[in-house]
Amino acid sequence: MLSKSIATFATLAAIVSVHAAPVASSSSNLLSKLYGSSSPAGAPAAPTEAAGGDTTPFVYPLSNGFPANNLSKDSIAAIQAQAFGTIPNGPAPASLANDDITSLELIAFNEIFEVAFFTDLLYNVTNKVPGYEVSNDADYQQLVATITAVQAQEELHALFANSAVAAFGHPAIQGCAYNFPVSTLKDALSLAKLFTDVVLGVLPNIQSHFAANGDAALIPGVGSVIGQEGEQNGYYRTALGLVPSALPFLTASSRAFAFSALNQFFVIPGSCQASVSQINLPIFPALAVSPAQPNATTQTLTFSSSSDCSKAAALVYINQQNTPIVVDITQSGSGVFTANFPYSDNLMNGLTIAALVSSKGPFADADAVAAATIAGPAFIEIN
Ligand SMILES: *[C@@H]1O[C@H](CO)[C@@H](O)[C@H](O)[C@H]1NC(C)=O
Ligand SMILES: *[C@@H]1O[C@H](CO)[C@@H](O)[C@H](O)[C@H]1NC(C)=O
Ligand SMILES: *[C@@H]1O[C@H](CO)[C@@H](O)[C@H](O)[C@H]1NC(C)=O
Repeated sequence: MLSKSIATFATLAAIVSVHAAPVASSSSNLLSKLYGSSSPAGAPAAPTEAAGGDTTPFVYPLSNGFPANNLSKDSIAAIQAQAFGTIPNGPAPASLANDDITSLELIAFNEIFEVAFFTDLLYNVTNKVPGYEVSNDADYQQLVATITAVQAQEELHALFANSAVAAFGHPAIQGCAYNFPVSTLKDALSLAKLFTDVVLGVLPNIQSHFAANGDAALIPGVGSVIGQEGEQNGYYRTALGLVPSALPFLTASSRAFAFSALNQFFVIPGSCQASVSQINLPIFPALAVSPAQPNATTQTLTFSSSSDCSKAAALVYINQQNTPIVVDITQSGSGVFTANFPYSDNLMNGLTIAALVSSKGPFADADAVAAATIAGPAFIEIN
């Protein structure tokens, strides 16, 4: 049993190995559907281009018009076929608290980023961009089938959230230009795992806002997306040679952390026009952590921020569904701090969200941490 599972993981880990790839795919049809006969400005270059990679920012729209909120019936039908299912067809609720419209705007903003990422990833994989070759044909077919479905499923998540935003008289969220800080399949899957972990933290937080604001009708739809994103993450984790389920209880988050991270890590500053400023959430100054993927042991980590840290009082770690952990900081330079990472006492696997805060707490939950944040989030992932 044990040797069988090790052999399975070795095979799956080979998905991310880099070898000359046998080419057998019908990807050109799919790509011409996504990009049209010519690529959108700034998007990965024409699908027929020899693999060479393209590090220019990803720019919308896709050839079907996405992320516009007025796609034709035919375009929606094509996305639904690729996604294996439909957008929920029930009516929008009669009313919605402004705070919950903010949540739907954040969901649309995040899903539009995810569509950009998976569109780019599908391009890289099917064009055998160096670093994205898959040696085993069955693994290749499974990977392409997976990203193809996910790319369309994320489009539907975005369109659904945006249609609710628009139904309440707010402008639909638009696309931005994005950079993805990865250039290999392994790093791309690790990044997909990370941002999916962040989404899986924030969607339950959004459900609490729906409940507190009296908008319970939205809870099941978001719950269905939590499960859906969890299924995706199981695939990314398996392809990376990890156990598909990371933790017994996944790490909690707050909307401001997800919104800040998307802006800090991926969005080209100034490229979003109204989309960013209409979302009523803060963008915190960035906080870097070293190492970001530490060994599974209690140790000292180094954090740095170029913002004003004169009010920094402590560092907080959010991991699983536990009460946020507050630790002392030692300043070792301008904007540079060291802090203990108490792995062993707390089994801090999966995603940990760290933030530099203005008080020593205690903090009841991730929202309370966000309310005191000076710089963050920094993400730490172990297994
Ligand atoms: C696709 O490949 C290019 C070139 O290596 C890289 O800059 C980009 O980040 C990659 N995109 C994804 C989503 O992996
Ligand atoms: C959607 O709206 C844009 C901008 O108003 C317009 O140019 C485009 O033709 C519309 N598309 C459809 C399918 O109605
Ligand atoms: C993690 O552990 C390995 C093996 O013990 C060691 O070589 C490596 O330097 C450690 N990495 C970090 C970041 O501590």
